[in-house]
Amino acid sequence: MATTEKDAVTGRYTTGHEWDGIKELNTPLPRWWVYVFYATIVWSIGYWVVYPAWPSLTGYTKGLWNWSARGDLVTEMATVQAGKQVWNARFDGASLSDIVKDRELLTYAIAGGRTVFAENCAPCHGSGGAGAFGYPTLADDEWIWGGTLDDIHQTIAYGVRNANEESRQGEMPRFGTDQILDAQQIGAVADYVVSLSKGASDAAAAKAGETLFAENCSSCHGERGEGMAALGAPALDNAIWLYKGGKDAIAAQIANPRHGSMPAWSERLDATTIKQLAVYVHSLGGGK
Ligand code: HEC
Ligand code: HEC
Repeated sequence: MATTEKDAVTGRYTTGHEWDGIKELNTPLPRWWVYVFYATIVWSIGYWVVYPAWPSLTGYTKGLWNWSARGDLVTEMATVQAGKQVWNARFDGASLSDIVKDRELLTYAIAGGRTVFAENCAPCHGSGGAGAFGYPTLADDEWIWGGTLDDIHQTIAYGVRNANEESRQGEMPRFGTDQILDAQQIGAVADYVVSLSKGASDAAAAKAGETLFAENCSSCHGERGEGMAALGAPALDNAIWLYKGGKDAIAAQIANPRHGSMPAWSERLDATTIKQLAVYVHSLGGGK
């Protein structure tokens, strides 16, 4: 209860409450503050009416506008999906060589391919296609099974040494295990392979290995070890190895080849995705 008594020091009215001679000043809330406070109450009531607000035993009050976060998401997803369909239709209609010539399609393919690659391929081929022992590097311009867009597409779609009819096949004889060559011959031909890739090697043994190579190896790996994509025989005349360089590792491969395999991805991924992957992988190493 406001009184008419004024405080002598501040010149303000007091509330009339008094404790041990101390009187309480009457300091009302600023008017603007009170109006804002009322306005928020009015606003909240409007909000309850229009938007979903109060929980009930069976659900919640839906509000006049029938808005829901999930409804918003559904609309948004439909818009994205429609946009994607337009893209996919354009993408599916284009050939691999058209795609790399069209900046937009190329960007679309690489963005999609990169994501799928990280999930499905990186566990074997390393992130960005860096490669690992037995899993070829995809980020260089050497290709075991060919580096054109079509070659890469074929390899990804049907895989390597698996049960799919279209799979890449190609096996190297087990020169040691099947006793085609003895240990000394294997050593000599390994020396020759090292010399092809210009590593340090025993010149005399390499010379002896040259004839053995021509007789046993060149039909697949080429006369100078340049490799043959049709047979999946890697080039041996450079420092890029599927397994390992160095005489011992090469001798081990000659004695008992490992024959890695890769699944046919067309059995697991759709055609659009395989296309995106082919373009992405081709872009990594510059392809051929
Ligand atoms: C289970 C392991 C594994 C996975 C997963 C895998 N690959 Fe491979 N990939 C291989 C092996 C092994 C080879 C080589 C086999 C050989 O020639 O000896 C290979 C070869 C390739 C080649 C041929 C390289 C060349 O030099 O010709 C391409 C291209 C390729 N993979 C792409 C992919 C893509 C794209 C994916 C993901 C969709 C993938 N790989 C997933 C194991 C794998
Ligand atoms: C019938 C075809 C064929 C013949 C013959 C052949 N190779 Fe191979 N070679 C291959 C294939 C296919 C691979 C990949 C095999 C694998 O993944 O194990 C390979 C892989 C290799 C590699 C591993 C290359 C790397 O990058 O790590 C070496 C080394 C090699 N061969 C050496 C030889 C030598 C030496 C001979 C002859 C004594 C020979 N090969 C005969 C088909 C052949």
